[in-house]
Amino acid sequence: MKIGTPKEMYAGENRVAMTPSSVVQLKKLGHECLIESGAGDAAGFSDADYTSAGVMVVQSAADLWSSADVIVKVRQPLITELDLLSDNKTLITFFNPGGNEEGLSKAKTTGANVIAMEMVPRISRAQKMDALSSMANIAGYRAVIEASNNFGRFFTGQITAAGKVPPAKVLVIGAGVAGLAAIGTATSLGAQVYAFDVRPEVAEQIESMGAEFVFLEFEEAMQDGAETGGYAAPSSPEFREKQLEKFLEIAPEIDIVITTALIPNRDAPKLWLNNMLAVMKRGSVVVDLAAERGGNCDATVPDEKIVTESGVTVIGYTDFPSRMATQSSELYASNIRHMLHDLTPEKDGVIVHDMEDDVIRGATVAFKGDVTFPPPPPKVQAIAAKKPAAPEKTPEELAAEEAAAAKRAGGNQIALLVIGALLMFFIGQYAPASFMKHLIVFVLSVFVGFQVIWNVSHALHTPLMAVTNAISGIIILGALLQIGSSSVVVTVLASISVLIATINIVGGFMVTRRMLQMFQKS
Ligand code: NAI
Repeated sequence: MKIGTPKEMYAGENRVAMTPSSVVQLKKLGHECLIESGAGDAAGFSDADYTSAGVMVVQSAADLWSSADVIVKVRQPLITELDLLSDNKTLITFFNPGGNEEGLSKAKTTGANVIAMEMVPRISRAQKMDALSSMANIAGYRAVIEASNNFGRFFTGQITAAGKVPPAKVLVIGAGVAGLAAIGTATSLGAQVYAFDVRPEVAEQIESMGAEFVFLEFEEAMQDGAETGGYAAPSSPEFREKQLEKFLEIAPEIDIVITTALIPNRDAPKLWLNNMLAVMKRGSVVVDLAAERGGNCDATVPDEKIVTESGVTVIGYTDFPSRMATQSSELYASNIRHMLHDLTPEKDGVIVHDMEDDVIRGATVAFKGDVTFPPPPPKVQAIAAKKPAAPEKTPEELAAEEAAAAKRAGGNQIALLVIGALLMFFIGQYAPASFMKHLIVFVLSVFVGFQVIWNVSHALHTPLMAVTNAISGIIILGALLQIGSSSVVVTVLASISVLIATINIVGGFMVTRRMLQMFQKS
């Protein structure tokens, strides 16, 4: 199939949906690639770069749309662009299906298939196609860079001959993809970072990145522990009141605020209010990533940078990924080529639009003359919803169950011991004394060894392997002493022991090496 990328029509958009490196992968899937002349210029990819990667450069958008079977682009298409679609074409792009009824009905009348990149379900199998996360990651990084560019001081603390410089204090509100990227960037620049999110479970993630989680203190009466783990419900007015109270308390200390708080398909909640801006130090900076949905800060003006009367800079740009167009184009083009990888299962250049596939179905908003938005819930989720939840057991019930299981295991062991003793007694009646001596030592060592290993948790199997390696060493030593015996049986048994113990030792080293490699950086 011919995959084509037109130049973005949206004013100020610098990104491009196909890069010379994504082309290499698309060709491996059996596709031909086309690009409109100049489409990659603003992202730093010239026509010559594309030509040398084997892409055909076409001169006009009309030519591109008519020659390509699959059109891949970045921004929501204009109606004039959708007019160029027909029933044998597929369009892959950000489409804003929730707020683009006109576009959806246009796609329906053309009969083309449309895949909306923002609709890729957030499940682990689809992470490689999750363009929203790729872009939010860039936005989080760029927000910190933009803040530092507008901040008159260092991020990192320094002790210089001229005096001591304290580190900048950064507060990140909302620790989703963009928030975590902002935390990572600000800590690596040396700032002292604080973060807040309505989901207390992200506290660990925040702390592991070197930031401090801003906890809210609730009185006993305000906690509804059962539902929210000892926290008032985030949607409750008490929670919001506490949150704003805390922000106002820390505002005079904070130099930079990055807000990313948003619940999908809702307007951004106002969290950084005028009274907080008023008590911030002159020269402080607020970067509001939620500007597109109204902003988290009272003073945000979408797409603008303003300075308040008290000297705080508030940045409300909505095009951070486009401000880092080379990087964001690379990541977006990679998301697109992963989508095309799933759409080309045989790698033969033939698109198979499988509506049974959760990810493809979830992202398809128009298919063969029908609007297929909104999608049904992903199958995995639907199965989970149907399965009745097992009733939670109380700690007393769990303890009683454990005690009963231990009692059963104890009873079994006693029965086994009695059977073993009877068996020994029976063999002892007929076998020679020297044989019995060795048999008892052997049986006891098997029993002790089994008891030791069986009760070790999986996490401790690697250190255990080190111990078994030591035992294997002893076995090899004993077997080598016996290997020269005049008895053929003894020689064969000793050789088998050496072989098995060697396999154990070598295997142990290989597994340990692989585990250590998991912790090595490169
Ligand atoms: P996300 O859904 O991964 O994260 C949002 C986080 O905010 C979640 O962790 C959520 O629990 C938290 N949150 C929601 N309500 C909150 C509240 N009242 N208080 C504290 N935390 C709250 O979203 P993602 O992908 O990180 O994107 C964040 C924002 O960045 C979105 O608004 C998105 O539109 C925006 N964005 C902006 C760009 C720009 O150029 N300005 C580019 C890309 C994304």
